[in-house]
Amino acid sequence: MLQMDRFLRHSLSMWLLLQSFVLMAFCFHSATTCPKGCYCTDTNGYKIVRCSNAHLGEIPKDIPNNTNKLYLDSNQITVIHNDAFRDLHFLSELDLSHNSIGSVEIGAFHGAMESLHSLDLSSNQLHSVNKDTFSTLKAKINLSENPWHCDCNLQELMSTVTLDTGSSSDIICKTAAEEEHSGKLFLQVVKDGGFCNFNKRTTDVAMLVTMFGWFTMVISYLIYYVRQNQEDARRHLEYLKSLPSKQGKSEESSSISTVV
Ligand SMILES: *[C@@H]1O[C@H](CO)[C@@H](O)[C@H](O)[C@H]1NC(C)=O
Ligand SMILES: *[C@@H]1O[C@H](CO)[C@@H](O)[C@H](O)[C@H]1NC(C)=O
Repeated sequence: MLQMDRFLRHSLSMWLLLQSFVLMAFCFHSATTCPKGCYCTDTNGYKIVRCSNAHLGEIPKDIPNNTNKLYLDSNQITVIHNDAFRDLHFLSELDLSHNSIGSVEIGAFHGAMESLHSLDLSSNQLHSVNKDTFSTLKAKINLSENPWHCDCNLQELMSTVTLDTGSSSDIICKTAAEEEHSGKLFLQVVKDGGFCNFNKRTTDVAMLVTMFGWFTMVISYLIYYVRQNQEDARRHLEYLKSLPSKQGKSEESSSISTVV
């Protein structure tokens, strides 16, 4: 009987011990959950998640929601899907540089819009992005070293972006809506008139053509007038020559001077 009691008590304590182990392990796990290939460190209750150079083909889905800084640079990420950072309400620094990102969906930064204050998308494959993608972001953005296609859409996009100081001078038009602008600095072309003034340009051309038309008409009329006058003058001279008088000669010279 006594033995039975001791056994029961023993197994009960064992059971409790096991349960607390499981609980501890669970807590420990949830506290240190970190995406595969990444290193996570804690500072003041927030996480710094380093996934640089981790051969990632896409943005991990299990990034802790209290992540403050996230380094995803030097991977093979190609797309940023809508809501990729949806749960990261404390994210302030995001480095996506040196990837192969060619497409950023319009809602890519939903969730982190308010908190984000530094976003690095430099050295990627971006050539165009919907003009509203960054419009509600407050972050400073580095967009340099991308094969940008410069057109009115890009100009509208850039007008909503706070570019990282210094990085704005690195934005080069790989291609452009107008061939003459490819290879040029984006900001330089904007300064020289920009990409959104097709209408202005066509009216300018129309003006020029009209002015040229008028000019041609005026010139032709002048030439016609001079010719006509020459003819008249010649006839007049011939008439004067046929009058052999002294008075005629002086009239002759005066009429020449009027012709000239
Ligand atoms: C973060 O995730 C944990 C569990 O994974 C959850 O309990 C908590 O409510 C989340 N916090 C926010 C702010 O979403
Ligand atoms: C922007 O990115 C380029 C290329 O990665 C880098 O050289 C430059 O220093 C960055 N600019 C800023 C202000 O961080």
